[in-house]
Amino acid sequence: MKITITGTGYVGLVTGVCLSDVGHQITCYDIDQEKINLLNSGKSPIYEPGLDELIQKNIQKGRLQFTSDVKEAYSGADCMFIAVGTPPNEDGSANLTYIENAAIEIAEHMTKDCIVVTKSTVPVGTNQHIGRIIQERLPANLKVRIVSNPEFLREGSAIHDTFHGDRIVIGSDDEEAGKKIEEIYSPFKLPVVHTDLRSAEMIKYASNSFLALKISFINEIANLCEKVGGNIEQVATGVGLDKRIGNKFLQAGIGFGGSCFPKDINALNHLANEYDYDFKILKSVIDVNRLQKERLFHKAKEIFESLAGRKITILGLTFKPNTDDIRDAASLKLIQDLLLEDAVITVYDPVGMPKVEKLFSDKIQYAASAEKALAGSEAAFILTEWDEIKTLSLETFKCYMEKPILFDGRNCYTLEDAEKHGIHYYSIGRKAVV
Ligand code: UDX
Repeated sequence: MKITITGTGYVGLVTGVCLSDVGHQITCYDIDQEKINLLNSGKSPIYEPGLDELIQKNIQKGRLQFTSDVKEAYSGADCMFIAVGTPPNEDGSANLTYIENAAIEIAEHMTKDCIVVTKSTVPVGTNQHIGRIIQERLPANLKVRIVSNPEFLREGSAIHDTFHGDRIVIGSDDEEAGKKIEEIYSPFKLPVVHTDLRSAEMIKYASNSFLALKISFINEIANLCEKVGGNIEQVATGVGLDKRIGNKFLQAGIGFGGSCFPKDINALNHLANEYDYDFKILKSVIDVNRLQKERLFHKAKEIFESLAGRKITILGLTFKPNTDDIRDAASLKLIQDLLLEDAVITVYDPVGMPKVEKLFSDKIQYAASAEKALAGSEAAFILTEWDEIKTLSLETFKCYMEKPILFDGRNCYTLEDAEKHGIHYYSIGRKAVV
């Protein structure tokens, strides 16, 4: 089978590279010539551990190629995966322009009967819409079948997640097409769930919304622990040992960000509204997360009479470690809030600074190391638990800062450690050390 993947973002690129690694012949297609040039030279345009090596290996083996030429991409293809972005519109709904364009291009350039597989996260009903777009434009002698195959990989561990995922969801109203896609994935040896088209689309939104709900729930328990007394780390351990609940996604913190959770829960909420359904829990998840991102800022405002002119350090800018992605990261909101207070901000992140610099340019300062960022500072915020940040000794904060006041949005240190080092330490869901 000749397989084409359209879109070389996280989902498309990682899927294409991993499918080539198990022996399939893969062409990755993207309209962005610069990206394609970079990929053809063996380099990934996104920061993802292990990806460069896999790209180079499979280019060398002759199983992986990249093109921006639409004819080359689709001519002779048996199977086309669509993995283009579905960014949010102003009203929270998913923007389907890229998906629709991909469907039109496929219809105009396919040269044989084929299966079109949607990997992008799309609102329920979109696959049928894609089917109609292609059918209307298809040469009379050709047939297309539609499959929904949502992706569950996480940035930063995308390759591992692809090879070791919990399940592969294959939604189709055409049994034979679903079986063909199952064959493509058979080398991964993962459990496969076959569903109809609409259920597969809903599985993706329901999964991401449930995970986001777990985080917002534990964050609210954490906030309550701060008021009533209690330690959220101990509470999460005790709760998570119940197998019905599970211990994953119970890490209280500064709120979730990234390219998926915020976008997908807003899109599901929008979909619910469209169908006149008031999805109360989902609306609360969104609200709780918005407030969580502001929590440490409000704490800092309580402690300092004024933040104007104060030297503040932010360690960690990306929405989580092992990615350069800053979309919907807690750091962006904190920087905006601190700038409104006229604080003097220095930031450090091992990978995320160039993207933040594009947004804030010289309104804030960028340090070459955590130590340099802390020098002379009156308060420090930890927002991303990069290894390099969470293993900093508390002695470092004491040594470099003017006053060692630490707001830890990721609970990187124990309270005992903070007490031992004589640091003023405010974390999430635990008592303050002062
Ligand atoms: C998520 C889903 O996990 C993945 O299945 C889907 O395909 C895409 O969306 P991703 O956005 O890459 O993946 O990151 P994830 O590791 O899920 O983290 C999302 C956010 O939640 C991060 O900001 C992270 O810091 C936060 N988080 C996660 C918590 O605050 N607490 C937790 O316990 C887990």
